[in-house]
Amino acid sequence: MIYRLKQVRDALWGKLEPQDKKLVDKILTVEEKSYFYSLSLADQYHSIKVAKEAISIANVRNLNLDQNVIIRAGLLHDIGKSGFKITLIDRSLPVIITKISPILSKKIASWGNGELIILRGFYLYWNHYQLGVQIAEKLNLESNLRQVIKYHQEPVKAEDQLLLRLIKEADELC
Ligand SMILES: [Fe+2]
Ligand SMILES: [Fe+2]
Repeated sequence: MIYRLKQVRDALWGKLEPQDKKLVDKILTVEEKSYFYSLSLADQYHSIKVAKEAISIANVRNLNLDQNVIIRAGLLHDIGKSGFKITLIDRSLPVIITKISPILSKKIASWGNGELIILRGFYLYWNHYQLGVQIAEKLNLESNLRQVIKYHQEPVKAEDQLLLRLIKEADELC
């Protein structure tokens, strides 16, 4: 519950600090940055937080993963939301409705195929990973990053690669 309230606070007031921008500029290519900076400010902030959270989990557990790869995965996992202006309602309503009834949430997402602005949040909630896969192809991203973008919203599975599992965990906390 507390972290949901934090998510609302971040969606309203979260923004990148100068050192966050430096990190993005260092880690992402010019083309990747153009997609990253087309995310809403709240999603940019969320992505930075996921990258940092993933790094701290990896450090605590001494995971054998490259730090740059972890940061790239955090920054790019929600890249499918790039280009969409998302309001607080767009972000929170699908999360709440999905908790109550995933079937209803999916159904709402299918109405209008993302063209109805009022349902855009639901459309993005269920489709941003597929949209992200298309962007990942354009950017020619590494296969482990494609896995993260494609599957990060699914529950943790035994066969998940270490990086995917890590980002799922960090995403859930941010
Ligand atoms: Fe996501
Ligand atoms: Fe996310």
